[in-house]
Amino acid sequence: MSNFEDYISANKSAFESGLFDVLRIPSISADESRLSDMSRCARWFVDGFSRIGLKSELIETRRHPLVYAETAEVPDKPIILIYGHYDVQPPDPLNLWVSPPFEPNIRNGNVYARGATDDKGQFLTHFYAIESILKTSGSLPFQVKFIVEGEEEVGSESLDEFLHSELGKRKLACDCILVSDTGMFAAGQPTITYGLRGIVAFELLVTGPNRDLHSGTFGGSVFNPAIALTKILDAMIDKNGRVQIPHFYDDVLPLTENERNQFASLPFDESGFFDAIGLNDGFGEINFSTNERRWVRPTFDINGITSGYQGDGSKTIIPSKASAKFTFRLVPNQNPDDVISNVRKFIDSTAPKGVTWELVVQHGAAGMRLDLDKSRFVKPMSNALEKTFNRKPVFIREGGSIPIVANFHLVLNADVLLVGWGQDDDALHSPNEKFSLTSFHNGILASARFLNELSK
Ligand code: BES
Ligand code: ZN
Repeated sequence: MSNFEDYISANKSAFESGLFDVLRIPSISADESRLSDMSRCARWFVDGFSRIGLKSELIETRRHPLVYAETAEVPDKPIILIYGHYDVQPPDPLNLWVSPPFEPNIRNGNVYARGATDDKGQFLTHFYAIESILKTSGSLPFQVKFIVEGEEEVGSESLDEFLHSELGKRKLACDCILVSDTGMFAAGQPTITYGLRGIVAFELLVTGPNRDLHSGTFGGSVFNPAIALTKILDAMIDKNGRVQIPHFYDDVLPLTENERNQFASLPFDESGFFDAIGLNDGFGEINFSTNERRWVRPTFDINGITSGYQGDGSKTIIPSKASAKFTFRLVPNQNPDDVISNVRKFIDSTAPKGVTWELVVQHGAAGMRLDLDKSRFVKPMSNALEKTFNRKPVFIREGGSIPIVANFHLVLNADVLLVGWGQDDDALHSPNEKFSLTSFHNGILASARFLNELSK
């Protein structure tokens, strides 16, 4: 494995053009009209893996296909499983994109496209790392497996089902799961993430009269479902964002002094953090810092809310229906099923008479916290990161969720390494998502160096 570094520097533009090819595929998992784009994207990976010499296959599921690939088995050596997702979030609102979301565009050393950082660009760093090693050494002294799914952004149900099947357990068996679907604490600051929040996602549909009504004729004598909905949602948190669902905090572990001090010691530019998103102040539970609020505290958020007339001018109606999509972010030790049942009870006791409601559970996943002290894979990764970024990594937790990771850890009984190349201003899930090309190329180098360290 000597000249993989030369291969990497000689192939920068080929790697970028591969990335742009995948970014052109609108693999939006939530959008049922994109099924053929989803399989086209999965195919791109199956073909890509076999082109670089791996045994690869497309695994059909009840929803979006999985892609699995592996290098040759090497008995008695550790197995590394690299996970990523080829699905992306919906790109809307489209009018806010400077360049169209599925036409990758380079500006200021970044590539702009939906999925650039989350997760196509990040995942491909490992793909090209393996290509570089295989093309220069012919083989690896241990086995690498890849699993790429198409449902991460909608809850990872199919992969979870596969993971729990006999076939899945056999195929995915490994010693270390490597994931790049998180961020760096600051640009150029290599980062190992040791905790993620979980999530439960709901849709609440409130129904009032059997048709939109004249708000003059009926107003004041029937319950407006949009008002009913906002009252229910408003009751979920207090003015500091503390969730009001009974028993919600019962299982939340208190933050240790140790961890509190460790977070406080990170070089966090708080005003820059809010400046970059156009705010002059933050929000959240009292007695918790911004990083504590976003990494280790559970939360409630409304993701979308719909009712009544939204067109030009005004229309004097009482809408017949109102609905909202909302999520709770969970922390380790909170049980998603308990939260679901407590939320249902809470809505039952809060919803006013005069409307009916239906609660749909979209997906749920537990939060996680890794005990990295026990992992023998941290040291080689830290070495690879330090060599690539000229800085030692920092260790943080993140507020986002990667639903399958907690179950990977449990079912496969393997170490998890979350090492991401994203930045806070990458605008994931927002218009104008981007990925720094420097991060892309450094990620490839760091990944290849990690594998090289392991082979020593
Ligand atoms: N890459 C993110 C998770 C993430 C974001 C980790 C920021 C760390 C920092 C991932 O693709 C994602 O967005 N997951 C969804 C999962 C959900 C839809 C089940 C999320 O967190 O909203
Ligand atoms: Zn995402």
